[in-house]
Amino acid sequence: MRKGILLAGGKGTRLYPLTCVVNKQLLPVYDKPMVYYPLSILMLAGIKEVLIISTPSDLPLYEDLLKDGHQLGMRLSYQIQTEARGLPEAFILAEDFLQGAPSVLILGDNIFFGLGLQSVLEKLSSQIEGMNVFSYPVQNPQDYGVVEVSPNNKIISIEEKPIAPKSNLALTGLYFCDSRAPSFAKKLTPSARGELEIIDLMRAYHQEGALSINPLGRGAAWLDTGSPDSLLDAANFIATIERRQGLKIACLEEIALHKGWIDQFMVRKTIQALKSSQYKIYLETLLAQPMD
Ligand code: G1P
Repeated sequence: MRKGILLAGGKGTRLYPLTCVVNKQLLPVYDKPMVYYPLSILMLAGIKEVLIISTPSDLPLYEDLLKDGHQLGMRLSYQIQTEARGLPEAFILAEDFLQGAPSVLILGDNIFFGLGLQSVLEKLSSQIEGMNVFSYPVQNPQDYGVVEVSPNNKIISIEEKPIAPKSNLALTGLYFCDSRAPSFAKKLTPSARGELEIIDLMRAYHQEGALSINPLGRGAAWLDTGSPDSLLDAANFIATIERRQGLKIACLEEIALHKGWIDQFMVRKTIQALKSSQYKIYLETLLAQPMD
C-alpha cells in the first residue's frame, strides 16, 4: 500500500514575523490550520498511513493537533528533521517508515482544490511504477520548479526557480513515487545552494523514462501560501467557496466518514472535544444528514 509523507518543516522566513514562533503549516487558512489541506489531499488519494516531518520544536505541536490518527481511521507517525537539507531528504528520513512501499510526498503549504481531483489522485495512487507530478499554469513560474513540455506532453526541460522560465507551467508540491524514491534520493548531491533538489530526483526518474507530468488545468486551484498576500488570497478563496456552498474544504472527519474509515460514533467523540466552534457545528450537521 502506498504511504504518505507530509513535509511541514522549514522556517517560513518569507512570512516573518508571522512565523517567528509558529510553524508556517500551523498558520490558519480561514477556518483550519494549513496542514489540514495537504493532509486532506493524501486522504482523498486513499492514503491511510502518513509520516509527518517537522522541526524538533514544532513536531510536538503536530502530534498534539493530529494525534496518532485513529480519530480519522488513519495511522499518523512523526519524524524530526533537524535541518532542512532539501525536499528529497524527506524520502531518506521516511525510508524506515516506508519499508519499501511506494509513496506520495506533499508539501505542507500546498493547497489543492477542484472538480475531479479525487479520481485523479486515486488513479495515480494505484500506479505503482515511476514518478508522477503535477504541472499548473501560473503567472510567476520563476518562483517554482518549471517544466517545459512538447504539445504531446513530452518533457523537454525541468528547472528549479529559473530566472528566465521556458514555460508558465509550475511543478506543484505533490509527488507520487514508486518504491525507489529513497534510494534515488540518497544518490543525489547538493546543488549550488547546498540542498538536495526535488528537480534532481525528477531528473533521475526522467532518465529512466519513468517521470510523468499530469497537467492540472483550468477548473483546478493550486494555491500558494508563501507570502502574506498569497496566504490571504488562499484564505479568501476557501472562505468564498465554503460560505457559498455551506460545505467545508478539507474537513478531515468528513472525508474519513465518507471513505468509511470512521463511523458516526467516532465523529461524535471528536465533536465532544471541540467545545464550541463553527467546525463543531459543521460536524454536527454532517451527522444529521443522510450519507450519500
Ligand atoms: C518547492 C519546490 C518547487 C515547487 C514548490 C511547490 O519550492 O522546490 O520545485 O514548485 O515547492 O510549492 P519551495 O516553495 O519549497 O521553495
